[in-house]
Amino acid sequence: MIKAESLTHYYGPYPAIQDVNFGVRRGEILGFLGPNGAGKTTTMRIITGFLPPTRGTVTLDGYDVVEQSLEARRRVGYLPETVPLYTDMSVNNYLKYMGTLRGMAPSAIKPRLSDVIDVCRLGDYRKTHIGKLSKGFRQRVGIAQAILHQPQLLVLDEPTIGIDPIQVVETRKLIQELGRDQTVVLSSHILPEVSMICDRVLIINEGHIVAEDTPKNLADGLQGVERLEVEIGGPAAEVLPVLKAIRGVHDVSHTNRDGRHTYMIQADAGQDLRDAISQVVIGNGWSLRGLQMVGMSLEEIFLRLTTHEEL
Ligand SMILES: Nc1ncnc2c1ncn2[C@@H]1O[C@H](COP(=O)(O)OP(=O)(O)O)[C@@H](O)[C@H]1O
Ligand SMILES: [Mg+2]
Repeated sequence: MIKAESLTHYYGPYPAIQDVNFGVRRGEILGFLGPNGAGKTTTMRIITGFLPPTRGTVTLDGYDVVEQSLEARRRVGYLPETVPLYTDMSVNNYLKYMGTLRGMAPSAIKPRLSDVIDVCRLGDYRKTHIGKLSKGFRQRVGIAQAILHQPQLLVLDEPTIGIDPIQVVETRKLIQELGRDQTVVLSSHILPEVSMICDRVLIINEGHIVAEDTPKNLADGLQGVERLEVEIGGPAAEVLPVLKAIRGVHDVSHTNRDGRHTYMIQADAGQDLRDAISQVVIGNGWSLRGLQMVGMSLEEIFLRLTTHEEL
């Protein structure tokens, strides 16, 4: 369905994405996962034909998004990061207007309008002005306009950002439903979200794809590490090498906050190092002031993926 080759985009001298390659099969739900500024929006704007790449090509169903943009665009529905909704229009009128803009015949718009309103559960809000809707419902209107012309491919840029938790759940459900009949590409900076919705995940960091896998394999690959945070009373210059020498420890970083020395220990998963740590601390006559297991933040997962060779 999508074939992206060597996509590179420069905003002025700065490369937002570099040499991005990926394919999306028909019917697949693909997630772009990456921190802010990774290049997700840039990639999505390129595949939807809104931004010509500096280098590289994208074809949708065999149509080049730049050379055959009309054919390509007809196949895409796009929910941009910020949807340009007309706040003083009712949901009905806005969707009608968007249908007309897309070149749909009035006779085709009417039945399709009822369908998308049903699918996006906007039935109670047909006549409501968009300006009066909550962010979550506006997002549904954004999705409704994206699917109006029955595109084969749906591109959703951070579809759940900024909406309340109940709406997040509803929106994810909606995306999964849409994914049954359509190819979907969505972006997110939330790992569990992508894992929940997507068949396959591309992790993008600083404009490069750093990992590509199923959510399950990614999670398995990430399970290899554990972190412990330890506060120790003792001279850091001596403590640090001793901690690093403990079997199973990969790396230790040290912070000194007002004389409180904290060490972040990265270790192999599956072996509880708490005993080993407390023994060396006590054995050296230092004091153990705190010891806890810490989960990995998304930033650390990215860091690990960008520095981890096996992935
Ligand atoms: N219109 C623009 N002009 C200049 N730089 C931009 C523009 N849009 C995005 N960038 C830069 O390109 C990089 C990628 O941005 P973006 O694609 O929006 O990432 P993401 O959607 O993953 O947050 C960022 O460093 C961002 O600052
Ligand atoms: Mg973005």
